Amino acid sequence: MLNSILFFPESSRSGMKVLLTGAQGQLGRCLTESVPADTELVETDIAELDLADSKLLLSGLGSIEPELIINTAAYTAVDRAEADVDAATQVNETAVGIIAEYCRSAGCKLIQVSTDYVFDGEKSSPHKPDDPTGPLCVYGRTKLGGEKAALGGCDSSWVIRSSWTYSEYGQNFVKTMLRLATEHEQIEVVSDQTGSPTYARNLADAIWKLAEIKPAARILHCSDAGKVSWHDFAGAIFAEASGLGLINRSPTLIPVSSNDYNAAAIRPAYSVLDNELTNDLLGIEQTYWLDALRALLARL
Ligand SMILES: NC(=O)c1ccc[n+]([C@@H]2O[C@H](COP(=O)([O-])OP(=O)(O)OC[C@H]3O[C@@H](n4cnc5c(N)ncnc54)[C@H](OP(=O)(O)O)[C@@H]3O)[C@@H](O)[C@H]2O)c1
Repeated sequence: MLNSILFFPESSRSGMKVLLTGAQGQLGRCLTESVPADTELVETDIAELDLADSKLLLSGLGSIEPELIINTAAYTAVDRAEADVDAATQVNETAVGIIAEYCRSAGCKLIQVSTDYVFDGEKSSPHKPDDPTGPLCVYGRTKLGGEKAALGGCDSSWVIRSSWTYSEYGQNFVKTMLRLATEHEQIEVVSDQTGSPTYARNLADAIWKLAEIKPAARILHCSDAGKVSWHDFAGAIFAEASGLGLINRSPTLIPVSSNDYNAAAIRPAYSVLDNELTNDLLGIEQTYWLDALRALLARL
């Protein structure tokens, strides 16, 4: 059953009919919470619109007839994707091609959400949207495939890349650290990967701004400001959460290298995104990552 939220009476509706995929995910839920007042939002997740089923996907899109599709749905299990290439490719790449083709034929706009993991992490300064890509893992490769499918399949499509997202919903690094803090006295966290943690609410706000315009630049970067390693991000989570009484004690943090941690998927060592273009185009004032973290913890 599709869940349609209509904020205006139909007779006075002036806004768009928007199809949201991945509505139960953390970004999807933040988008649902911040939907503009004159927007008709059709929320779908895997039960209503399974991106792994190409036929049903196409007929589902045709029955909804949106003016804008915000595609947040993705195969996001980064390590699992290494052994599940076909499924990750279907959802992150093939389905995006089908969505883009639908958008082209129906005159619908597409916003495709993507990731910092399309970069190889060799740079030591923030990545601009047109920097060369070079994903190191299956997830990054399939998400890059999805970007190309979106941009190549339809002229009215935009890619918005974010990084290290977290929120009060679903599974993410912040919630995992808070749970581990109650279970362990010592926690090993990777210290040689640097990025910009991003509160999904801030990304959602940017996406709703992008929904209103059709900028010439078709790849945008959107993260919170500043940079930090996973290890230092964990330290900040424990310090702030202790201060708020969310955890009783801060566990001892042990820095480990990516090599020693030995995750199935290789991540970029440095994946900070340059948001300058997005800030200009969308009129955004980025939130510093620590302030955004505090905002999230205050809500928990
Ligand atoms: N999380 C990050 O750090 C991060 C960073 C940069 C960019 N992104 C991108 O941001 C977007 C949103 O990520 P997120 O963190 O909100 O991820 P998420 O919480 O995992 O949400 C993704 C949603 O898509 C759903 N989904 C999975 N397979 C599907 C399918 N076959 N058909 C329809 N829906 C399906 C998931 O359902 P299940 O939960 O049942 O699988 C989930 O509800 C993704 O495109 C991701 O690549 C994420």
